Amino acid sequence: MDFDLVIKNGTVVTASDIWNSCDIGIKHGSIIAVGTNLPCKDSGIETIDAQGAYVTPGGIDTHVHLSQLYEASADSLMKTQITDGKIPDLANYMHDTYDTGTRSAVAGGTTTVVTFASQLRDDDSLVPVVEEYHKLADGQSYCDYAFHIILSNPTKKILEEELPMMVEKHGITSVKIYMTYKAFQLKDYEILDVLHATRKLGVTTMIHAENADVIDWMTEHLEEQGMTAPHHHGTSRPPIVEAEATNRAISFAELMDAPVLLVHISGGHATRIIREAQTRLLPVYGETCPQYLFLLADSMKKEGFEGAKCVCSPPIREEAADQEAIWTGIQNGTFTTLSSDHAPIKYGFAGGKLRGLAHGGGPEGKFQYIPNGLPGVETRVPLLFSGGVLEGRISPQKFVEVTSTNPAKLYGLAKKGTIAPGFDADLTIWYPQETFKPFKLTNEMMHHSIDYTPFEGVEFKNWPRYTLVRGKVVFSHGEVVGELGYGKYQKRTKSTLAGPRDKWLSEWRPAYLRKSVNGDA
Ligand code: URP
Ligand code: ZN
Ligand code: ZN
Ligand code: ZN
Repeated sequence: MDFDLVIKNGTVVTASDIWNSCDIGIKHGSIIAVGTNLPCKDSGIETIDAQGAYVTPGGIDTHVHLSQLYEASADSLMKTQITDGKIPDLANYMHDTYDTGTRSAVAGGTTTVVTFASQLRDDDSLVPVVEEYHKLADGQSYCDYAFHIILSNPTKKILEEELPMMVEKHGITSVKIYMTYKAFQLKDYEILDVLHATRKLGVTTMIHAENADVIDWMTEHLEEQGMTAPHHHGTSRPPIVEAEATNRAISFAELMDAPVLLVHISGGHATRIIREAQTRLLPVYGETCPQYLFLLADSMKKEGFEGAKCVCSPPIREEAADQEAIWTGIQNGTFTTLSSDHAPIKYGFAGGKLRGLAHGGGPEGKFQYIPNGLPGVETRVPLLFSGGVLEGRISPQKFVEVTSTNPAKLYGLAKKGTIAPGFDADLTIWYPQETFKPFKLTNEMMHHSIDYTPFEGVEFKNWPRYTLVRGKVVFSHGEVVGELGYGKYQKRTKSTLAGPRDKWLSEWRPAYLRKSVNGDA
């Protein structure tokens, strides 16, 4: 057989199987053969020796914010920014671009990112929004990429005319909606509008489930008592705030018979609600992130203002029991995907000011002014491999399932997510375990453009040795060797996981499902 590249003798892992001493034959960017002793010895075909090393499908990170404006927790700040129509300074800006963000992705074994084209409340069309993100990404990516749309103004025109066009023309088959954050938050009525439209189109709706009113009430009352330090971000939204909204979101999804994915789930309570829905066979999916598996709320209690680095929403939890519940949710399949929620906001920005201290927060800062989110696109895959697989918490197959295979199926990346003939040769090759010297992570090792990592000091027992995107080595032995602009936009198909069931809670159903126009069906 004629190959461009053969990966020799790896321990090849898919979501279902492990093969020892297995070769992968690659031609024109695709995997064309998987087997033992593929012929390539003296033919001058390029080879990579993977003896003694795991070879896994490249990571697919389906929750990555790049070059995105205005995501923050402070309502007043967002209003100023949005009405001004300009960024006052660098706070509250997702600072990694497609260049630095995807450089960071490949350096951590990720080969495809799905980022957000973000509609703001006063954008009355999605067309310029998606065009703008195409412009930002085109020719600027080291790995393959696709877009979700953040819907924050779901008008009739957008849902009925523009969204179908986004599916057809751009292959965008998922949207994210918010139940919190003033600049994005939808009313319950609007959530029903969105689910009604997405069900018809076969689009998956990602939902950020937190109760905005509870957060506002708690924030105000904490401020009255002077409880404004960074970690009180967590005090203001205990697990029940996520659980209540998760339950509400699932209720709407059941009412509308529409598939949903609950994003960045942080607590045991919400996890159990999702599991219960799945047990009833509702098309309800769950996503969690490494910060909820590997960090606890003490990361927000560092000296001075340092805790601001670990402020994200939902917050990193106080109780080890929540963290355990998230691990259990990975193990038992409640979580379909593990994403980073890479939200690259710098700690120090313009004029040496610290994140969240510049906007009416006063010299000590107030948690409500700290922009939410933390960087993690580079650490996601190695964290789960080292802290999950190598610690014996999950199998290599489960690792592949949640970091690559399920994300590909849920979001319709038809040629990605596994190692089999016909699939893109997107691969991560690890170090043979006995040759690897464990190390403690520092931010200097990172390839993002952010001035910290929340995982500073965490020990890693392995790290991707090579990352290949469509058969090309883009990261090797600590160096990004890929070409800027090699990454291609991916038009996606619809989810191949279970969808609507045509089960309804009353006599009501969408008009397009009614067979006769006059009589009652
Ligand atoms: O705190 C977070 N998660 N920031 C990123 C935006 C989001 O809601 O995912
Ligand atoms: Zn979110
Ligand atoms: Zn306190
Ligand atoms: Zn996010």
